[in-house]
Amino acid sequence: MTQQTLTPDQQIEALREELRHHEHLYYVLDAPEWTDQEFDDAMKRLKALEAEHPELITPDSPSQRVGGKPREGFAKVAHSRPMLSLENAYNAEELRAWAERVAGGLAASETVRYTCEFKLDGLSLALQYRPGRAGTASLLNGVTRGDGAIGEEVTTNVRTIRSVPLHISARKLAEAGLPQDFEVRGEVVMPQKAFDRMNDERVAQGLAPAANPRNAAAGTLRTLEPNIVAGRGLEFFAYFLLREGETLLEEQSASLEALRRAGFLVNQHAATVDSMDEVLLFIDRAEQLRDKLPYEIDGVVIKVDAMVQQRRLGFTGKAPRWAIAYKFAARAGITRLNDVLFGVGRTGKVTPVAMLAPVSIGGTTVARATLHNADEIARLGVKIGDFVSVERGGDVIPKITHVVADASHPRGGTEIVFPTHCPICESALVKEEGEVDWRCLNDNCPARISGAMLHWGSRGVMNIEGLGEAMVAQLLGQSLEALSEDAVEMVEESGAPLLEHEPLVRSLADLYTLNSEQLLSLERVGQKTADALLEQIARSKNAGLARVLLGLGVRFVGERTAQLLAQHFGEIEALMGASAEELEAVNEVGPKVAQAIVEFFAVDRNRELVMRLRALGVVMTAEKRVIGTALAGKTFVLTGTLPTLTRDEAKEKIEAAGGKVSGSVSKKTSYVVAGEDAGSKLEKARDLGVAVLDEAALLALLV
Ligand code: IVH
Repeated sequence: MTQQTLTPDQQIEALREELRHHEHLYYVLDAPEWTDQEFDDAMKRLKALEAEHPELITPDSPSQRVGGKPREGFAKVAHSRPMLSLENAYNAEELRAWAERVAGGLAASETVRYTCEFKLDGLSLALQYRPGRAGTASLLNGVTRGDGAIGEEVTTNVRTIRSVPLHISARKLAEAGLPQDFEVRGEVVMPQKAFDRMNDERVAQGLAPAANPRNAAAGTLRTLEPNIVAGRGLEFFAYFLLREGETLLEEQSASLEALRRAGFLVNQHAATVDSMDEVLLFIDRAEQLRDKLPYEIDGVVIKVDAMVQQRRLGFTGKAPRWAIAYKFAARAGITRLNDVLFGVGRTGKVTPVAMLAPVSIGGTTVARATLHNADEIARLGVKIGDFVSVERGGDVIPKITHVVADASHPRGGTEIVFPTHCPICESALVKEEGEVDWRCLNDNCPARISGAMLHWGSRGVMNIEGLGEAMVAQLLGQSLEALSEDAVEMVEESGAPLLEHEPLVRSLADLYTLNSEQLLSLERVGQKTADALLEQIARSKNAGLARVLLGLGVRFVGERTAQLLAQHFGEIEALMGASAEELEAVNEVGPKVAQAIVEFFAVDRNRELVMRLRALGVVMTAEKRVIGTALAGKTFVLTGTLPTLTRDEAKEKIEAAGGKVSGSVSKKTSYVVAGEDAGSKLEKARDLGVAVLDEAALLALLV
């Protein structure tokens, strides 16, 4: 059959199959056969076909990974069975003691096999699959661990993770021995490269780097903009298989194999062994591999392989008796504290940075560590010249844990003096009551202005390409020479950055009055650069209220809070005029955040900045929630209890897709959505010949 003779439905299905196959080769097996171009072309063809036939779009189509709309928050979903944590062991002794407890819980004649897996340092996630068309399975939802009993439904974000299959063919299910409905649990991780990329961008833009890949992955999964998630390179490793809260296969090792066959990414470093000696060997090898892996692991999880035995061993309050996490010791080294420098950030916070004699820890040379604040220096009792123990976790910034003092490590002697004045602008530092940080409160401090401007232009905020460190320095009138590559050294070498010419901008709003002539007067700026920057600045005006709020740098208002505030208030006036109580009415906004917002807008200078920005064309309204058209003109009646969605959630989803929900069934009803214990409405639907859907079918209609 040639392409032309296929029905649109068949053409679309064939393309989807092809794309799924190549996604699996690329993202799970790491063995691509197509170039990116070939993949993109096929995706474009699919999207074009789907645009011609929107009624054929299903949520498990490969085209549906990205493009979700920003959300207001996440629905809470109960887990089919609690997502527990694990007991920890830190050495061989503790591990053997656990093995003895396991043996004690089983009959004397029984042998125990253990499946050893890497303990991936991310966050756990549960994925529910439901029957799709013709013997297939499709992703229904993805739910975070939450408190273990109830998690947050982050499906739109999970869809963007390429190693999560949205759809599993009947053939693959058969090969894996899986039914059409099941649950997979596993770990979402941010690979080291993706983490470095994200942090490089953040640092270049004057933002604080994420502390470690785990935090970065967790933060990413909970952002309200699926497009951001899609660009962050998260991966999902599957390690647990369930159906209706019960294990499905009889061995953990068989579960891993089934998951792999079904197309999930399963960590390749798993082994099933017969003895504790072999478990310890596995741990040794894991520790050696640790620094060579493309993602972080913080230990090894050991699980009793046979599910019959797991069932008999059961659970203690919080953790299963049949599994344990062996945690690696932190990577640490001893070195000398040569000096302490003080950096000033966008918020004026002064951070002491320890300059260390370079030392290799776990394959990475460490020459700096954060000392956080004055309290931390006092707590450590550290002086310049002391030897200190430095730990490097998954964190970017190494930590000093304690002073080492013995015969071969004599104490230093020079007291660390916390500055009383800003190292950049020399204004007196202030510590507010109840706070640990000293701050520079001078709104005109070059370090603060430059930090604020870099933050404003950064990718996650107004996304102004070209507004990097060098450009900001020049706009502020500083000479390029004063801009050493490293901000800390800059402080040391030049004190306050040298003023070379009158600043072109003194406030964020001035960015929007810049013209080409002014930019051309700067060093190393030609027509092309100037035009590109002006275009980027102009484009940034439409970033929307959430980004503006984030960009203003109100304390405690991060990406997520900014999105929630923007959705709630819709425009800046309402937000600026809101009282602390009104602010606290926003989901997830507590008294501290509310207070900070009120205080921010109580300052004339901040209000004026907002007004000027608005007058200069910066959009101060939130993107309205877009109502879809997939279900336009359709009327639904809900009856009975649906397996995962509450009534309200189902209603919200239908309405968001343009449909209507009504209370009673008539001939005009397009669909009745029936769950368990559906009563007379279902009967009436049958009498009137109205189509009846289950939850999976409803979800399949929603795009
Ligand atoms: S099994 C009841 N396997 O470690 C079974 N967990 O400290 C619990 N984790 O919350 C999970 N890698 O987020 C399991 N191969 C692995 C894991 C793993 C990482 C995480 C998981 C869990 C935590 C427990």
